[in-house]
Amino acid sequence: MRKTGSSEKWTSHVGVILAVAGSAVGLGNFLRFPGLAAQYGGGAFMIAYFISLLILGMPICWAEWTMGRYGGQNGFNSSPGIFQFITGRAGGRYLGVMSILIPVIIYMYYVYIEAWCLGYAVNFMIGDLDFPTKNVDAYSSFWAGFVGAGEDGSAVGFKYNQVGFYLIIVFILNFFIIYRGIARGIEFFCKYAMPALIVLGIIVLVRVLTLDSPIPDKPEQNIVNGLGYMWNPRDLSEQLLNPQLWLAASGQIFFSLSVGFGVIITYSSYLSNKDDIVLSSLSASSANEFCEVALGGMIIVPAAFMFLGQVGVKDQGTFDLGFKVLPLVFSKMPLGGLFGFIFFFLLFLAAMTSSLSMLQPGIAFFEEGLGLRRRQSVTLLGMITALGCMFIVYFSKDVKALDTVDFWIGTFMIFVLALIQTILFGWVLGVRKGWEEVHRGAAFRIPDFVKFVVKYISPLYLLGIFSLWVLFELFGWRPDTGEFIVTGYVADLLGSKDQAPNIVARMSVGMIVVVAVFLGMMISLAGKRWVNDGRNRRKEVSR
Ligand code: ALA
Repeated sequence: MRKTGSSEKWTSHVGVILAVAGSAVGLGNFLRFPGLAAQYGGGAFMIAYFISLLILGMPICWAEWTMGRYGGQNGFNSSPGIFQFITGRAGGRYLGVMSILIPVIIYMYYVYIEAWCLGYAVNFMIGDLDFPTKNVDAYSSFWAGFVGAGEDGSAVGFKYNQVGFYLIIVFILNFFIIYRGIARGIEFFCKYAMPALIVLGIIVLVRVLTLDSPIPDKPEQNIVNGLGYMWNPRDLSEQLLNPQLWLAASGQIFFSLSVGFGVIITYSSYLSNKDDIVLSSLSASSANEFCEVALGGMIIVPAAFMFLGQVGVKDQGTFDLGFKVLPLVFSKMPLGGLFGFIFFFLLFLAAMTSSLSMLQPGIAFFEEGLGLRRRQSVTLLGMITALGCMFIVYFSKDVKALDTVDFWIGTFMIFVLALIQTILFGWVLGVRKGWEEVHRGAAFRIPDFVKFVVKYISPLYLLGIFSLWVLFELFGWRPDTGEFIVTGYVADLLGSKDQAPNIVARMSVGMIVVVAVFLGMMISLAGKRWVNDGRNRRKEVSR
């Protein structure tokens, strides 16, 4: 078979590791993880988290890297192409709808939060976040005004203290970098941004670890107890029997490592046959864990604990810790404006390296599936994501559109895609073939028992967790009474006996469906082109 596919390649080993680490290290590390660790009260969550990392995160990462490079070597860089090649069936390409849909939709709201981070950095720098009344209410109301949480349409403003201004900047920056391509764009940016954000993170960490207890009559709210809150297991047996804890921990592993996003598979398709994917995957994941646990968790959880105490920390939502409590913490420390700026600028850099990675799967598909040039594919993706982003930003009241889309795509769908990828690797490509591929160019071997993990344990564990999740979250099963009481996101969509359906939630899911149908149609078109080009047959390129 004629070898086609992109001529783009990563230019260095370090570059690709930093790009994948960049995709992984993001808002999930600095907002989502600390929020969950605080909510589930530390130690028990960390146990479930590390078990999920070993059983799901690492093996599925290796599987994604392998399938991506294998696809790239055989002329495909987009997931529809790679899945079609691996399954050897035309229908396989439709599985790729998810791996383009997920990053494209996540980008639409991720870039909105990225703009908050840049906006907060600038507002800290110019001293606008140093309020005379130093309490959390002042910061809550700034946040609500800034992101438009009070009223739909109120985020659309272009002054320096409104999110619209920053959104335009970050949107253009993302598309400018992605337009420059794999090596000159993504790799170049991540090579500087990743070390910079780690250095900034260490500076803030040292500052937090050397803080004195801030409330004189509550000396027990100190840094040592703050670290203890994050790490010490409390009510261990009771907590570990809580399925929600396991769901939260494994969902966090996926979101954080960008596993089940369709991103790693695309990035690794630009690797060469000689690249060591065993080591690259391990290095990128280790960098992610360092940023998540050692920086994100150890900055935010203890800092918030020192100001709010155990009860206060537990009740905070994902955005509360990052955008309400932490600004308050900074405002109370010497040189707080500077540390606030550093922290939010590092968050912005982390978010940028992730949002860029969410654009590449769509670009790769438009180029290889529809035959578009880079300028055309960047324009098409720019239009789709701009429309979706405007929708999410407009319906900003209680960040409802963002929250709904994050739940259905950023939690539900990534479980589904991760499961499909595990099955593709372990059962369709086959673990024997997969093992041969993963070790091509590798300096050391993955222990053989991981083969068993990836083939049996990971999919079973995923299926188990996913079934529990469907039972508890979607159908609202209450083990104590045996009743099914639909609440939350499902009630928003379908309504329940206590609540009417929520129109914004319905429109948000409608938007996801429209994008999915559009992508499905494009994949069908791509399939026809691949048949005409003779690229639909599964014949390996000899290497
Ligand atoms: N992996 C990215 C994050 O953690 C998406 O934010």
